Amino acid sequence: SLMEQIHGFEAIFHVSPDKLKAITKHFITELDKGLSKKGGNIPMIPGWVMEFPTGKETGDFLAIDLGGTNLRVVLVKLGGNRDFDTTQSKYKLPDHIRTSSSEELWSFIADCLKTFVDEQYPEGVKDPLPLGFTFSYPASQDKINMGVLQRWTKGFDIEGVEGHDVVPMLQEQLEKRKIPINVVALINDTTGTLVASMYTDPQTRMGVIFGTGVNGAYYDVVSDIEKLEGRLPADIPSDSPMAINCEYGSFDNEHYILPRTKYDVIVDEQSPRPGQQTFEKMTSGYYLGELLRLALVDVYEQGLAFEGQDMTKLKKPYIMDTSYPARIEDDPFENLEDTYDIFKNDLGVETTAPERKLIRRLCELIGTRAARLSVCGIAAICQKRGYETAHIAADGSVFNRYPGFKVRAAEALRDIYDWKPAAPQDYPIVIVAAEDGSGAGAAIIAALTEKRLAAGK
Ligand code: BG6
Ligand code: GLC
Repeated sequence: SLMEQIHGFEAIFHVSPDKLKAITKHFITELDKGLSKKGGNIPMIPGWVMEFPTGKETGDFLAIDLGGTNLRVVLVKLGGNRDFDTTQSKYKLPDHIRTSSSEELWSFIADCLKTFVDEQYPEGVKDPLPLGFTFSYPASQDKINMGVLQRWTKGFDIEGVEGHDVVPMLQEQLEKRKIPINVVALINDTTGTLVASMYTDPQTRMGVIFGTGVNGAYYDVVSDIEKLEGRLPADIPSDSPMAINCEYGSFDNEHYILPRTKYDVIVDEQSPRPGQQTFEKMTSGYYLGELLRLALVDVYEQGLAFEGQDMTKLKKPYIMDTSYPARIEDDPFENLEDTYDIFKNDLGVETTAPERKLIRRLCELIGTRAARLSVCGIAAICQKRGYETAHIAADGSVFNRYPGFKVRAAEALRDIYDWKPAAPQDYPIVIVAAEDGSGAGAAIIAALTEKRLAAGK
């Protein structure tokens, strides 16, 4: 029956405090492996940001931020007093871009930049503008102004980019359009979030994204990063900090500890990169609606719900993005009337009251599991680095817009640490909303880089 089905879902999606602790423990081992010479599943990419922002950096910088859903172009004016101003334009990535060609992707970005620069500098640009490029995919770096894409994540699948440095690809399109811009730094969105938040709040210890993807960055010390041996310039002291883009969305690609359901298995098998990003596929915004869809189709196929309904739309992969479970969890009506409308209008399925109860419960379970699992990355870094108190700067659509996510995340941290119940902001490790956009972080890093280069390092 439907009731039994709900209990079945509760059993497979619930993650107990003990399980969270075990996951965190294994996570630490995997983070360490990623820093070793041999490496592991988690890339732990050194970001070549080797200083902390002081809050005193100044200057005007351009930044672009290529995330999972939007391209943001930002002009950042660093005030030098832990303050900055930004002027932004946001361009939605056209749907087809995810699977288009490399040429189309870089042309799209260069066109957006041109529009923005023409608007901001109507009299033209005299000296070339320094630009910080937030590229939110795993990119290997030997220095700050390059990044070789290891593999696409978050459903991107554009040929001819993996294995290549993306900076010259962008630079070439800029030159074609005669836009006087120098890409001086390439950073991950988590590193940008970390640095931008640290600029304004020195208690920041990590930058994390709960969005289309899931990931975190923190500062390690170069002497603790075994795989840097022999790769550091001679003048870098061994106690120098180094920002690390963990890319921990790839945690547990070995399927050793995460409690995967059959729906997680299907999501993985049908993705363009099976076997990759196991942790991300269970927790991030790109996949939550799809997990919901797969579970509902399963209930239908067992003959337990939606009898006689036209399931054509619901059978279409990725027809529901994360706004679906988010809106369903937000439905204030006892009879779930909003949910009724969503299914009827968007998906052509008329639901009964018991069916809607199941749908709502499933959303709660999938959303709660995502929040609980995703904080294991935070706990693992904090335990590894010995942070007992910390501000964790968070950004992304799931963190900012998914109902209940913040409270669920705080509760899961409490479960891992056995803290007594308290208001989310009173726990020793607090997840706070990041300083507006990783674009500011890219600008600050560009400023730090220019300072280092001017000092001849
Ligand atoms: C933004 C950050 O606010 O959040 C980006 O500025 C980041 O750098 C993004 O990529 C992540 O969220 P989403 O939901 O767009 O993947
Ligand atoms: C994916 C990307 C990673 C990014 C994260 C959040 O995990 O691989 O680089 O930080 O999404 O946007």
